[in-house]
Amino acid sequence: MAQGQLPLAHRASDLIGSIIDSSTSLLARQTHDIVRFAMGAPSDDLMPVELLDRYSAHSVPGKYSYGSTEGEPDLVEQIIKLQTDHGIATTADRITVTTGGMQGLDLACKLFVDPGDLVIVEGPTYTNGNATALSYGAQLIEAPLDDNGLVVEALPDLVAQAGRTPKAIYTIPNFQNPSGVTLSQRRRELLLDLAGQWGSVIIDDDPYGLLRFENRPIPALSQLDPGNRLIFSVRTFSKILAPGLRIGWVDADPGLQSLLINAKQAMDTCTSVPAQRTVTDFLAGGHLQPHLERVRGLYRERKDAMRTALQHHFGDAVRVTDPDGGFFLWVTFAGKVVDTQALFETALAEGVAYIPGPAFSTADNFHDALRLCFATSTPERIDEGVARLKRAVDAIGAAR
Ligand SMILES: Cc1ncc(COP(=O)(O)O)c(C=O)c1O
Repeated sequence: MAQGQLPLAHRASDLIGSIIDSSTSLLARQTHDIVRFAMGAPSDDLMPVELLDRYSAHSVPGKYSYGSTEGEPDLVEQIIKLQTDHGIATTADRITVTTGGMQGLDLACKLFVDPGDLVIVEGPTYTNGNATALSYGAQLIEAPLDDNGLVVEALPDLVAQAGRTPKAIYTIPNFQNPSGVTLSQRRRELLLDLAGQWGSVIIDDDPYGLLRFENRPIPALSQLDPGNRLIFSVRTFSKILAPGLRIGWVDADPGLQSLLINAKQAMDTCTSVPAQRTVTDFLAGGHLQPHLERVRGLYRERKDAMRTALQHHFGDAVRVTDPDGGFFLWVTFAGKVVDTQALFETALAEGVAYIPGPAFSTADNFHDALRLCFATSTPERIDEGVARLKRAVDAIGAAR
């Protein structure tokens, strides 16, 4: 039977996938040396691999059976402790363990987004966040972003133009993916006000908040307004521990927990019990804090190395963000002379991978920009990768 004749559901055409995730397979197929600035993942040497291996070898009764959908009680307890230690009090009836942050985003959209609903997203934003909202039929509005995060002051005009209020506002408040910028406290407060007026849920996606290496933390939305029922927080261990574990959690209004459980039961029954046990034992062993302290210093070094290399190789030809934490730099070419999508193939041939700007927009914006992940490479490799990027830019410039 030809592909066109398969009885696909209408929603299949709204599944846009992820250029970021596909880059993992694309890179795995390459046989030459590539400096990897594409995926947002810690390098193996910055994951506590030995400890995780040790804990994953622990044998515990029931480890290979089904677990409770809301999460292993011991892990929920550790998550509550982790949040409380960072000033964000919570309770077990607010926590649902998820299969990574991605499942948290999927659950948020599944519970709140009907086809045609308006969802405000940051422009640029995390590709898979857009993809998830679109898979539920959302109509996205890309709101501008500046050095203080989402330009919340612009939202009333955007909403007036749309002629209706948003069902959800999707924000990545700390060290945003892809730009690295952080939402200021004043804007967090304004966002809470506007969401309250419009009755919009705030999907507060914060995988990087604990990876702050400069300046003081800004209070989380749920610290500014504890108990606000519109805040739906999505968290993950992927960036602070290891993405392959696929363990995250949602912290949301207790009234949502039974719906989250129903939705999750139709997805995966429960999150991997062995992976939950490994994370639980790692947290209970008191290893997270020292691990975070170690990696924060190294990430700062890597960020500085990347900014220095960009300045050295490109000078004023690029504008580069200067994040206080997280994994990413957002690089914009001056004068719109470089199309980062067109550049990609040449860059890959030169031996460097990144994510082109348009991947972070559903409006085909940001052709003059790209995202670089500094977390995965040593300072020496970073310099080499940026030098390769410069050679690629020169090569397409010469070919024009
Ligand atoms: C902003 C943001 N949200 C969610 C995720 C997904 O996290 P996970 O790998 O735990 O599914 C990522 C991963 O890149 C991310 O950057």
